[in-house]
Amino acid sequence: MDKAVLTYDTLTHEMPIIEGSEGEKAVDISKLRQATGLITLDVGYQNTGSCTSTITFIDGDRGILRYRGIPIEELAEKASFSEVAYLLIYGNLPNREEQQAFSQRLTQNSMIHEEMLRFFDGFPPTAHPMAILATMVNSMSVYYTDYYTEDFQADTFDLMAASLISRIRTIAAYSYKHSIGQPHVYPKRDLKYASNFLYMMFDSPVNPYIPDPDIERALSTLLILHADHEQNCSTSTVRLVGSSMANLYASICAGICALWGPLHGGANQKVIEMLEEINRNKLSIQSCIESAKDKTSKFRLFGFGHRVYKNYDPRAKILKKYCETIFRKNNYQDPLINIAMELEDAALKDDFFVDRKLYPNVDFYSGILYRMIGIPTNMFTVMFAIGRLPGMIAQWKEMHDTDPLKIGRPRQIYMGNTLRHYAPMEER
Ligand code: ACO
Repeated sequence: MDKAVLTYDTLTHEMPIIEGSEGEKAVDISKLRQATGLITLDVGYQNTGSCTSTITFIDGDRGILRYRGIPIEELAEKASFSEVAYLLIYGNLPNREEQQAFSQRLTQNSMIHEEMLRFFDGFPPTAHPMAILATMVNSMSVYYTDYYTEDFQADTFDLMAASLISRIRTIAAYSYKHSIGQPHVYPKRDLKYASNFLYMMFDSPVNPYIPDPDIERALSTLLILHADHEQNCSTSTVRLVGSSMANLYASICAGICALWGPLHGGANQKVIEMLEEINRNKLSIQSCIESAKDKTSKFRLFGFGHRVYKNYDPRAKILKKYCETIFRKNNYQDPLINIAMELEDAALKDDFFVDRKLYPNVDFYSGILYRMIGIPTNMFTVMFAIGRLPGMIAQWKEMHDTDPLKIGRPRQIYMGNTLRHYAPMEER
C-alpha cells in the first residue's frame, strides 16, 4: 500500500494513501494526533477531505462534473429533474417502474398541511424568501413526524425525501404568491416537476398560466445543473448537522441557511444586482474590472471564481447557451445580458482573472435565465435550494449508510489568552 511518512521531532509516522476511483489521492491522517500529538490546520478546508463519497465527481482543472459517473452535459440534455434526483439519492437511473413509484410519491407529497399556510401570514412582507423557506422546511419536522424515526430507516427515509423534494417547490411558490398578495395555487397531479412549479407560481384566476416548453425545459435544466456539487458549504453543513443524528428536515434547513450567503448560493442574486447597478449608473465595463481587482474596493465580480473550478464551470457553459437560445427565440429585451457578456469577455482577457483562473461560475448566467423565466430576483437562491435538495438528501443518506456514523467535530489551535484569573470590576 502507498504511504506518506511524516517526520516530526524524533517521531516518524506512516500514513496510508487513499486512492479514489478517478485517481485522486489523499493522506489518511486519522491516527496522526494519537501518534504524534499534532493535528492538521486547514482554514476554510481548502485541502481537507471530510468524507469519501460515491455521488458526485468534479475535476475542477478539466471542468468535469458527473453525477454517479454520468456527465452533467448528458443529464442536462436528456434527463428529467426527477430522474436526476432518483439517480443522486439511490445511485442509478430509475427503470420505468421505479420512476413511476418515485413520481407517485412526489405527487402524493406535493400539498402542504393547510395549517402551515397560516405561517406565511406571520412573516412581514419584506421577509427574504430564503428565511421563509428555511423556517417552513424546519416546520415540516413537526407536521410530518410520522416520517422519521430516531434511527435511520429506509422506508421512512423514502417518504421524507419525497416529502422534501415535492413540498419545497410548493412552499417556494406559495411564499411568492403570498408576497404579491395573491391566493395560492394547489399543485396539479398531471404536471412534471418544473412545470408544476411554474404553474403554481404564475397561474391565477384572471391570468391562466400558459406553458412554454422551452421555458419549462430551461427550468428543469437549471435544477439539474444545481442538483449536487459534492462537499460545498451548504452540503457540508447538511452532513455536519446530520452527523449529530438531527433529523433530515432540520439538517436540510441548516443547509438552506448556509446556501443563502452571497459567497455561495446567494451569489446569483448578487450577480443581477451587480449588473443592474452597472446598467443604472452607466458604469463602464473596464471600471468594474478595475474595481474588482482593487483590494481596497468592496466591489467583487459576483458569479466569477470558484473554490474547485480553475477552468470554465461546465454548468455555466450550458446555461450561457440556454440564455442565448431563449433570448433569440423570444426576442427578449434585457440590457443585462449584453452587460454580462461584455463583462465576461473583458474579465477573461484580463491578466488578474487569467492568472487566478477566475472563470464564470454557475451563478453568472443562472440569474439571467431566471429573469427570463419571470422569477423575481430575491427568489433566485430559493431556486438554487430547490435544485440542490436531491444532492443534500443523497449526501445525508450516504453519511447515514456509512458504518459507524461519526459525529463531525473539527479541532482548532487555540491562540487566545493563557491562564488568567477573574478580576473584580473595580480592578479592571
Ligand atoms: N472577483 C474578484 N477577485 C476575485 C474573485 C472575484 N469574484 N474571486 C476570487 N478573486 C481573487 C481573490 O481576491 C484572490 O486574490 P489574491 O490571490 O490576490 O488574494 C484570489 O482570486 C483567490 O480568491 P479566494 O477568495 O481566495 O478563493 P476562494 O476559493 O476562497 O473563494 C469564491 C471562492 C468564494 C467563490 C470566490 O471566487 C468569490 O468570492 N467569488 C464571487 C462570489 C461567487 O460568485 N460565489 C459563487 C460561487 S459558486 C457557488 O457557490 C454555487
